[in-house]
Amino acid sequence: MTLQNLQETVSFLKKQTNIKPDVGLVLGSGLGAFVNEIQISAQIPFQDIPHFLPTTVEGHSGNLIVGEIEGKKIIALQGRMHFYEGHSMETVAFPTRVMALMGIEKIVLTNSAGGLMDQMQSGDFMIIEDHINLMGANPLMGHNLKELGPRFPDMTEAYDRKMISQLEQICIQNKIRFHKGVYGGLSGPTYETPAEVRYLKLIGCQAVGMSTVPETIAANHLGLRVAALSCITNLAAGISKTKLSHQEVTETAKRVEKQFALLLKNFLREL
Ligand code: HPA
Repeated sequence: MTLQNLQETVSFLKKQTNIKPDVGLVLGSGLGAFVNEIQISAQIPFQDIPHFLPTTVEGHSGNLIVGEIEGKKIIALQGRMHFYEGHSMETVAFPTRVMALMGIEKIVLTNSAGGLMDQMQSGDFMIIEDHINLMGANPLMGHNLKELGPRFPDMTEAYDRKMISQLEQICIQNKIRFHKGVYGGLSGPTYETPAEVRYLKLIGCQAVGMSTVPETIAANHLGLRVAALSCITNLAAGISKTKLSHQEVTETAKRVEKQFALLLKNFLREL
């Protein structure tokens, strides 16, 4: 990836809309219906955007949307690219970089994740406080583009403290079941084995998933403030009494769609 690729994508997008977005939003598996809440100015399928790749995952529509919601100018991805799809980490992080060059200062990442704690129920939310990158790769590997950020970015507060407490307050006020914790990011696409789940608990993860970590790393490199929210769509393998399936993931996300929208709308208003 070069700066020129990024600039080509940014100038393409700037031709599609006059809106200069303040906030970026990435909608994970089964959570894409949130775009119906946005007053849309431009909606573009990934495959029509230079240097974007179409998403291959069911439950991910693969659209970029620019619009307004709760008085905020927003650029949203309905679906994302994943490492397990065979994309390079750079490709996975590319949209985050494009959104930053479009002018956002804050990014809200959402995902579906497996819950690791006994007190979790499917349909709960987890506000991500930190992560452990177990993907075996990092989107910043290779030549550093110093125009984007430093060679060795600090990750002490990868997830913005103020945004964590705002999300927490909104959950409390609206009686939304939530947890706070550490997200373990794995490459997938297999779900974990029960032994891997025991290991993840032991090293300090409270949820596990296959996304978000590359975007968070790229966003920190770019100096963006990051908030991230998991929908606990299932209990992880070995904790859950049933076998895991993508269908269960998307069904749970659908079941809590209204709560998710309420939480996100209140949060965006406060940003
Ligand atoms: N593991 C990994 N990723 C996931 C899970 C899970 O249990 N549920 C939703 N995404």
